[in-house]
Amino acid sequence: MWAAYSIIAALALAYTSPVGADDVSSFAGATSTFLFPPIGETATASDPFFPNANQVGFAGPTPTGDEADTIATAPSVAKVKSVFPLINPGTSDRPAGDFDVLHQFGNLAPWRSVKSLGLPETSARIPGGCTVEQVHLVHRHGARYPTTGAPPSAFATLLHELAQTTGVNVTGPLAFLTTWQYKLGAEILTPFGRSQLFDLGVGFRVKYGDLLKGFTDLPVFRTTSQGRMVDSALHFAAGFFGVQTYQQDYHQLIEIEAAGFNSTLSPYETCTNANNSIAAFGTTQALRWAAVYLAAAQTRLTPFVTGLPLSPSILVAMQQTCAYETVALGYSLFCDLFTEEEWIGYSYLNDLEFWYSFGPGNPATSAQGIGYVQELVSRLTETRITKFDTSVNKTIVSSNVTFPFGQPIYVDATHDTIISAIVTAMNFTSLSANGPLPTDHIPANHSYIVNDIAPFASNLVGQVVSCPVSPAFKSTGYIRWILNDAVLPLIGIKGCPTDPNGLCPLSNFISGMQQRIEEVDFAFDCFANYTIPNPDNIVNGQFPQ
Ligand SMILES: *[C@@H]1O[C@H](CO)[C@@H](O)[C@H](O)[C@H]1NC(C)=O
Ligand SMILES: *[C@@H]1O[C@H](CO)[C@@H](O)[C@H](O)[C@H]1NC(C)=O
Ligand SMILES: *[C@@H]1O[C@H](CO)[C@@H](O)[C@H](O)[C@H]1NC(C)=O
Ligand SMILES: *[C@@H]1O[C@H](CO)[C@@H](O)[C@H](O)[C@H]1NC(C)=O
Ligand SMILES: *[C@@H]1O[C@H](CO)[C@@H](O)[C@H](O)[C@H]1NC(C)=O
Ligand SMILES: *[C@@H]1O[C@H](CO)[C@@H](O)[C@H](O)[C@H]1NC(C)=O
Ligand SMILES: *[C@@H]1O[C@H](CO)[C@@H](O)[C@H](O)[C@H]1NC(C)=O
Ligand SMILES: *[C@@H]1O[C@H](CO)[C@@H](O)[C@H](O)[C@H]1NC(C)=O
Repeated sequence: MWAAYSIIAALALAYTSPVGADDVSSFAGATSTFLFPPIGETATASDPFFPNANQVGFAGPTPTGDEADTIATAPSVAKVKSVFPLINPGTSDRPAGDFDVLHQFGNLAPWRSVKSLGLPETSARIPGGCTVEQVHLVHRHGARYPTTGAPPSAFATLLHELAQTTGVNVTGPLAFLTTWQYKLGAEILTPFGRSQLFDLGVGFRVKYGDLLKGFTDLPVFRTTSQGRMVDSALHFAAGFFGVQTYQQDYHQLIEIEAAGFNSTLSPYETCTNANNSIAAFGTTQALRWAAVYLAAAQTRLTPFVTGLPLSPSILVAMQQTCAYETVALGYSLFCDLFTEEEWIGYSYLNDLEFWYSFGPGNPATSAQGIGYVQELVSRLTETRITKFDTSVNKTIVSSNVTFPFGQPIYVDATHDTIISAIVTAMNFTSLSANGPLPTDHIPANHSYIVNDIAPFASNLVGQVVSCPVSPAFKSTGYIRWILNDAVLPLIGIKGCPTDPNGLCPLSNFISGMQQRIEEVDFAFDCFANYTIPNPDNIVNGQFPQ
């Protein structure tokens, strides 16, 4: 997602090129592409020269061991730290390795284990004495190329056109721009993105594989129809089940992601206010901040270029180019143009964009997340949804084939903006506890960090566990939520107590979610013609009543 209303909607490329298509040059922002395999050269599935493993036979012994269960049995939970094979760049003021530039990329950062989201004493490991019964995973796709028309390609086009017409001269740190070429595709997963989802699938099997023993049928995992979404789901499955058998081991449901089609995994397709100036408010807010945090960069870099005005939005596009080139090509020459402080500023730019467009500060956010919450409640209570007034797709959820109950493992693939919408709809208020985000400085105790919420391959896990009866709750069934390996406090949800392990009695949690479903007005928030309040003090992703 994040296509139509990215920063560079505001890049103001009012410039129209007099350059004809035949006037191409291979320098200064020129686009270069390559296609593999060569045209007409694809392998056929059944080739007598290259028989498959079944045809060859002689597989040797293939006994399986027992399932892993590290989420309960290992003394600690493994942390994701590696970004192999990406190169973590330096900054203009610090050598490479001194400062973690890669994890200032906001929604363009690779996911890693978040240290803490407010419950530092616990971990994703099942609390002592408790048993895991069921898990609900919602994950984002892996690293992708920029969405169509996003800032990096617009920047490359502008640079190329200016270089071909009025001329661009660059020196010093910007000298590389004379020969720099734009090599990025659009929309689809990068090779690194594939490994992220494969690894996520492997990790999920090692943590939760033991739950497979509860299946009497094949599981249904869901994704949407977009290329990167299907690719992500299949890489997850390949990691989880293994490449030789994954196609026989589960059912992949692919929900249509296109304008007008109901799907809780792409709800912006049926929500008008997710596709207009209301949705674009985050860009407005982010650009206010860009003028602040990039002022020094503008002064510093301008002496090294003539013919290309280094406006804040151009500089943002250059920072974004660093992020995209890094996750696609492995490294980028744009990264160390900026200082550590400017990278922290860029991280906050993403927080602003998300908060006001897809997070607690946007009035159409909870409406977009609530469809998944309805499906979650349906699964937890094993009760079919009967009222259809959100993004839920009646055809899908009414069938026990496409939407089965009682699965020990649920896996749904979605987008950054929807993970952000789901955590808002679920009232995970610890993320929004410090209120609306200012556009002129980074606040102290800043708690809404997109790098932690919606990075590439971001994963939100609901653990349904049974624990010994506690006197306070007379309950043995609990649920808790883990965002990128950090346990979330559920303090914002009515009926959920303060608990050091983030546990909430299952029935209280379900009542809280049912109340949220009542609180969120999909029809109004998605379709009414309103303007965002000024100032925008919304913190629950809903238009104020
Ligand atoms: C519901 O989903 C199915 C499968 O993706 C699709 O064929 C159908 O058109 C969807 N219905 C609506 C109303 O979007
Ligand atoms: C969003 O708006 C554009 C232009 O107004 C339109 O072409 C597109 O179909 C809309 N998408 C959705 C999901 O409504
Ligand atoms: C670039 O440098 C050349 C040579 O010094 C000069 O003639 C030209 O005017 C410069 N162009 C721009 C856009 O500054
Ligand atoms: C799709 O969503 C709309 C709006 O919430 C609802 O009226 C309609 O019944 C849904 N259709 C299906 C097939 O899910
Ligand atoms: C699924 O639904 C069909 C038709 O409604 C019903 O006959 C069947 O028993 C259901 N299967 C399960 C496993 O619930
Ligand atoms: C930030 O948090 C610390 C510790 O929780 C607290 O003492 C301090 O007052 C907070 N500062 C602001 C500006 O909220
Ligand atoms: C959600 O959070 C808001 C504000 O923190 C609170 O007023 C509301 O009661 C909460 N809703 C539920 C169902 O917990
Ligand atoms: C929304 O309301 C404004 C002000 O009343 C009006 O100018 C505008 O045309 C309306 N937009 C739509 C899409 O109805």
